[in-house]
Order: sequence, then C-alpha cells, then structure tokens
Amino acid sequence: MSTDKYVVIGNPVAHSKSPDIHAQFAADTAQDMRYERLLAPLDGFAETVRDFIREGGRGANVTLPFKLEAHALATQLSERARAAGAVNTLKFDGDDIFGDNTDGVGLVTDIEHNAGIALRGKRILLLGAGGAARGALLPLLQAKPAELMIANRTVAKALDLAWEFQMHGPVSASDYDELDGVYDIVINATSASISAALPPIAASRFAKGAFAYDMMYAAEPTVFMQFAQKNGCVVRDGLGMLIEQAAEAFFVWRGVRAQTAPVFAALRPPSAT
Ligand code: ATR
Repeated sequence: MSTDKYVVIGNPVAHSKSPDIHAQFAADTAQDMRYERLLAPLDGFAETVRDFIREGGRGANVTLPFKLEAHALATQLSERARAAGAVNTLKFDGDDIFGDNTDGVGLVTDIEHNAGIALRGKRILLLGAGGAARGALLPLLQAKPAELMIANRTVAKALDLAWEFQMHGPVSASDYDELDGVYDIVINATSASISAALPPIAASRFAKGAFAYDMMYAAEPTVFMQFAQKNGCVVRDGLGMLIEQAAEAFFVWRGVRAQTAPVFAALRPPSAT
C-alpha cells in the first residue's frame, strides 16, 4: 500500500499551518499519510484539484480564495457544507468529490470543549455577515443558544442570513447602531482584525464577564480582543478553531479522532499565551 496523499490548496498557501497540524495528527494516530501545501493559480483551482486526484490524491483542505469554487466542484455535499455555501474539506473516492465544511464545528468545539463555555441557553452576538459568519451559523444554532443576533455594517446581508437560517433556531439581525441587547458570548466573524480595525460594537453590549471570541489569530491579541478584555470579557482567539477544524477534517478522511491538545502545545507553547 502506498502512502495516502492530502494537500491544502490555496493562493497564497505558503503560510498555512495545516501541514504541521496534520503531520502531528498522523503521527499520533499512526496513519500512513502525507500532507503538503499546493498552490493553485487563481484561475486554475478545478484543474489543480483534478490533477491531484489523477496523481492519487485522497483529500484536500481548501483555503482562501477557493472555498466557493470547492463547493461548486463537489459532486456531493454535507448538510453543513450546503448551509455554509462553502467547502473547506474535499474527499476523493473514484469519480466522487465529497465536499464538507468543518470550520463552524471547529469553532463550536473550541468554545465548548477547549474554552469550557456552554452555548446552550446563551445570548450570542455574531459580528459580520460574510463567509466566516455564514459558515458558523448552522453549528452555532445546533448548540441551542437562547438567541443569536447577527450584526453587520451592511445590514441587508445580516437580514438575508437571519432569514435563510431561521428554521434552524432563534436568529435575528441588526445593524450596529440599533443593537440594544446584552450578550453572554460575542464572536467576531468580521475580517476587521486583518486590518487592525475594530467592528463598531459598544462596550455596553457585553454582559458582565462575557466571553469574546475572535475567529482571527495572530501572535498578539487582536484589537477586538484587547477592547473586549478592557471591558471585562474573557477573550480567546481563533487558533483553537483552526486546530479543531483540522481535527474534524482528519476524522472525515481517516475515520479517526486525533487529540488536539498536543497540537495546541506545539503551536502556542504555554509561555507564549
Ligand atoms: P469572510 O469570508 O472573512 O467573512 P467577507 O465575506 O469579505 O470575508 O466578509 C467580511 C465581513 O467583515 C463582512 O461582514 C464585513 O462587513 P460588510 O458586509 O458590512 O462589508 C465585515 N467587516 C470588514 N471590515 C469591517 C470593519 N472594519 N468593521 C466592521 N465590519 C467589517
């Protein structure tokens, strides 16, 4: 038997930590697999995937900017990929291309299991209505919060999302100015942190001791995390989401659950937190 081949496909992809994460999962669970980075030309995603399948590839993670194209390329989709409208995990089997999305479940697992914060019965405020927010909605609603409010600068996008997901739970939408609730959990799914910007959220939206989560991560706390911490929140960045979405993808491919704690320790040694 030859070693099974997996890749992360993106553009750019050189910065991806996924190969390190999956190498550790594979070593810890004794899986005979290789996982590498694969740069696809911006106009050549589907061809890159097909070439990789021809070379015997078994699966791929998909990162920016190809998650929508991966959704279109899949011949079968999981429920969560269909809801997310985007695919971050592909599994190849003969002519079948199975598309899944493990980002949202990665977020929920990181909050509930790693941070130890139950979502059930909580008032959740989700900032942003782009791809990252959409991918999180189904798993968040499946965790049975009391309320899920989506806030976005462009309020029409938040309203569309709330409308689309209403059958899955108590979801509504607002612009930032009209928000007047108080929230136990505030999740930043905007791309503001990339440019060191802060979504225009008032400090009075945080319940006392609220939990504030930024889907982004960097060596230093994001401006959103700094703002939330200054206002009495417990804060967490998206490194755990990255590791947990990888563990879920590994399970989709291999049927084996990898431990994530050792990967945390490797990517962020305790002295660095
Ligand atoms: P992603 O796939 O990361 O979600 P996206 O689809 O481009 O990226 O969506 C970016 C999200 O971040 C949007 O909700 C955007 O708000 P608008 O829809 O109003 O543009 C939000 N966003 C980006 N920069 C922001 C900022 N400085 N403050 C608040 N929201 C911001």
